Amino acid sequence: MFPVLREFIKTQSWLDTLGDPLQKLLMGFFPQDDPTRKQLQNFLNGVWLGHPLHPMVTDVPVGAWTSTFVLDVAASVTDTDGLETAADLTLLVGLLGAYSSAASGLTDWMDTYGEERQLGLLHGVTMLTTTALYSLSLLARLSGARSTGVNLAHLGYLLLAGGAYLGGDEVYDVGYGVNHTAFQHGPGKFTAVMAEAEVPDGGLTKGEAGGVPVLLAKVDGRVYALDDTCVHAGCSLAGGSLSGTVVTCPCHGSQYDVRDGRVLNGPATMNEPSYEVKIVEGVVEVKQRSG
Ligand code: FES
Repeated sequence: MFPVLREFIKTQSWLDTLGDPLQKLLMGFFPQDDPTRKQLQNFLNGVWLGHPLHPMVTDVPVGAWTSTFVLDVAASVTDTDGLETAADLTLLVGLLGAYSSAASGLTDWMDTYGEERQLGLLHGVTMLTTTALYSLSLLARLSGARSTGVNLAHLGYLLLAGGAYLGGDEVYDVGYGVNHTAFQHGPGKFTAVMAEAEVPDGGLTKGEAGGVPVLLAKVDGRVYALDDTCVHAGCSLAGGSLSGTVVTCPCHGSQYDVRDGRVLNGPATMNEPSYEVKIVEGVVEVKQRSG
C-alpha cells in the first residue's frame, strides 16, 4: 500500500468508533456455545473449503460488474440488440454475489484486530457503498432512467476498484487470512524436543524442533505434536486448552484435532501442520509428516 494512504487510514478514528460495536454485534450473533450458529460461521469462514470462502465469492461481483461496464459502454456506442438486457442481467448477478461476499467478509472481519481490523472495515464500507450504488443503478434502470442507472454503475465500478485494492492489501500486506505456518518447515528427520516426562498428561506444552515452535500434547499417555503457531493469525497454541484430543486456540477459538492437525472449528480454515512422534530413551522426537 502507498505509505501516505496507510498513514491516513491510521488517523481515521471513526473506524474504531464504528468497529467496536459492530464487532460486538457480530460476536453476539455467533456465540461460541451455539452449535448451529457455529456451523454457519464455519461455513462462511470456509472451514469446509480448506481455504477462506470470501476471496472466492468476491470474484462473482468483480467479474459480473466488469461485464456490466463493458456491456454498458458497448450499448452506448452501438445499437446491437440485447446489450442493455445483458448489462442489467450481469448487474443483478453481481449484486447476488456482493450480498454473499458481505456475509462471508463480515464473518471473517469479526476476528480481526488492530491494523487489519481498520483496513478490513474500510474495505467493507467501500464495498457496501459500491453495492448500494449498483442497487440504485438497477432500480433506476428498472424505472426507465437508464442513463442515471449507467452513470451510477460507472461510479460503482470506480469504487469497486478501490475496494478491491484495499481488500488485496488486507491479505498481501497486512497478512490477514494467510496461513501463518506457510514458511515454517519442521525437521525432515526425527529431532529431539524434550523429555517425555516434561509433557503433562492431558495438557499442552511448547518446545522447538529445527527452529520451528512445536506444540506437544499428551492424551491417555500418548504424545502428539503440532506446529505451535496457529495457522489462523499466528498465536501460540500452547497458551490454549486441551479437551480430549481437541486443542482450542486462545486467541479466536479455532479448534484442531491434536492427532492429525485437522481443523474442526474456525475461524481457521486450514489444517494445523502435524508431526510424527517417537519416544527414544524417554525423549520426545518429532519429524515433519510427509504429504
Ligand atoms: S490465532 Fe486466531 S484462532 Fe488461533
